[in-house]
Amino acid sequence: MKKTLFLTTCGICILSIFCTAFGEELKPIQLPKPQLEGGRPLMQVLKDRKSSREFGPEKLSLQVLSNLLWAASGVNRPESGRRTAPTAANWQEIDIYLAMAEGLYLYEAKSHLLKPVLAEDIRALAGRQAFVKDAPLNLIYVADFSRISRGTNEEKEFFSAADTGFIAQNVYLFCASEGLATVVRANIDKPTLAKTMKLGPDQRITLSQTVGYPKK
Ligand SMILES: Cc1cc2nc3c(=O)[nH]c(=O)nc-3n(C[C@H](O)[C@H](O)[C@H](O)COP(=O)(O)O)c2cc1C
Repeated sequence: MKKTLFLTTCGICILSIFCTAFGEELKPIQLPKPQLEGGRPLMQVLKDRKSSREFGPEKLSLQVLSNLLWAASGVNRPESGRRTAPTAANWQEIDIYLAMAEGLYLYEAKSHLLKPVLAEDIRALAGRQAFVKDAPLNLIYVADFSRISRGTNEEKEFFSAADTGFIAQNVYLFCASEGLATVVRANIDKPTLAKTMKLGPDQRITLSQTVGYPKK
């Protein structure tokens, strides 16, 4: 009896150490349909577009995430699979990762879902500035050079940087329209972040962008 109790206790301890070490398992998140009827007039939004570096702690709802990601680089022409942001030769080489408190996800535009990548809070690694680790969301833009079918490495870097810029501006405009705070950032320890994200040899972090509600 004593032996069984001892073994059961050991089992529970090992299980709880395992769960603490590896975190809860993340599940894919199917995003709700983006709401395409909303938004303020474009000229008003351009008037308000700005970088902000002070964020409140409130999380973004799934509907806001859905609208944000669709605006960033969602599929706006399902018949051809083309996106809200242009890419050179329609290579669609920029992936958007989401670093949130619950973990790291990858946005899959075609199915409009969030695919789990890591059950770990890596926000502190998404940038060197203090506000990055506490903001509810950091988008991490990653270029996949294997999708760029021609050009030198220098040209691939140029296309990836330009294509990231369009996505980042879409996010800026969405945030200005919705009263959200955002800033795009290059100040990142890219090697450390890439290692933590377990990126492959063809994947390059281009920029990151913090999104949240303005600090009250
Ligand atoms: C490519 C790029 C990299 C940037 N990197 C950073 C950064 O690492 N940290 C930061 O706080 N802001 C960063 N910014 C934001 C700029 O500082 C900001 O856009 C600029 O000061 C103009 O301010 P505005 O966006 O409010 O017009 C970056 C902007 C761009 C376009």
